[in-house]
Amino acid sequence: MGSVTMTEKDFTSKPYKTLPEHGIITWEAPSNIALVKYWGKKTNQIPENPSLSFTLSRCKTITTLSYSIKEDNSGFAFEVFLDGEKKDSFKPKIETFFKRIEPYLPFLKAYTFKIETTNTFPHSSGIASSASGMSALALCLLSIEKMIHPEMTADFFTKKASFLARLGSGSACRSVEGSLIVWGKTKTIKDSTDLFGTKYPYKVHDNFNNYQDTILLVDKGEKQVSSTLGHKLMHNHPFAKTRFKQAHENLEKLKGILENGDLNQFIEVMESEALTLHAMMMTGFPYFILMKPNTLEIINKIWKYRQDTGLPVGFTLDAGANVHVLYPEEHTKPVLKFIKNELVAYCQNEQYICDQIGLGANQL
Ligand code: DP6
Repeated sequence: MGSVTMTEKDFTSKPYKTLPEHGIITWEAPSNIALVKYWGKKTNQIPENPSLSFTLSRCKTITTLSYSIKEDNSGFAFEVFLDGEKKDSFKPKIETFFKRIEPYLPFLKAYTFKIETTNTFPHSSGIASSASGMSALALCLLSIEKMIHPEMTADFFTKKASFLARLGSGSACRSVEGSLIVWGKTKTIKDSTDLFGTKYPYKVHDNFNNYQDTILLVDKGEKQVSSTLGHKLMHNHPFAKTRFKQAHENLEKLKGILENGDLNQFIEVMESEALTLHAMMMTGFPYFILMKPNTLEIINKIWKYRQDTGLPVGFTLDAGANVHVLYPEEHTKPVLKFIKNELVAYCQNEQYICDQIGLGANQL
């Protein structure tokens, strides 16, 4: 089934007669870092513009879902644990997720669930765990449907997992597969769709093999403004229309760059996307700033290092103060030396995470 022709209806479940009584499923799902940013959405988690991301490898969420049939079908029943500790603060987001996905997984109210989750990255590091977390949970839940309908193809499973993950957190739909994922319909990328993430379908130059992402943890505190609220502020934003158009153009530019391997142009698009994302935050109403002074110190150091050495090192940001430093694998040695000597001092507790492009989620 080509994704172009798919609609929400294709993801409704076929009827079933019996359900498995109980069981336990574990999935690990990676985080991802967007090169072209998703910022602004319509209802039902439909993005205002297309986005493109690298799937990461080491930053992951591992989720174990235990399920057992309950007596009544009256409501959702679940408990959530993070690193073995009950986490009631996660419940509202999961409750919303369950409500949104129930039409596509009609057995949800038939079970009591225990959701046990852990992240490979430090606690509250400011790294978005919603992408990896919602992806892992969607995969666990869909595995139950796969047991009910074993004839489900691997291709459909992947699409539906991404579709469900999107309903939990938009960027989560890009955390099912690797290594370069497109989400959001755009004319330059065939089969791109607003409903789920798809693998980038064109040629990618060897320069991007094992591309490195060293994440500098500048501020590990709670963000003052959540992404969900940030997306809302793109409604009636004075620059929204231009920004959404620009995302399509940047994707088109990147298509050429990914093919020809021009790293200077790659960095230009990536850094411009990061700064535009933060510019949107600063130019909306109410306006806000998520960068910290050390974010800017790091950006300036990266620019100086690039000028001095000519090495293709660039940065991107997500909705927070942390800086993702991206560079080709062949330059790992000098770049890590630079990071240790000059950038780590700007990180909270000198913390950073060395990651690289990854291949997607796995069932354990
Ligand atoms: C800045 O996916 O976290 O990281 O759909 O409301 O859960 P919700 O938002 P979320 O937004 C991520 C925004 C971003 C850019 C990106 O990953 O594309």
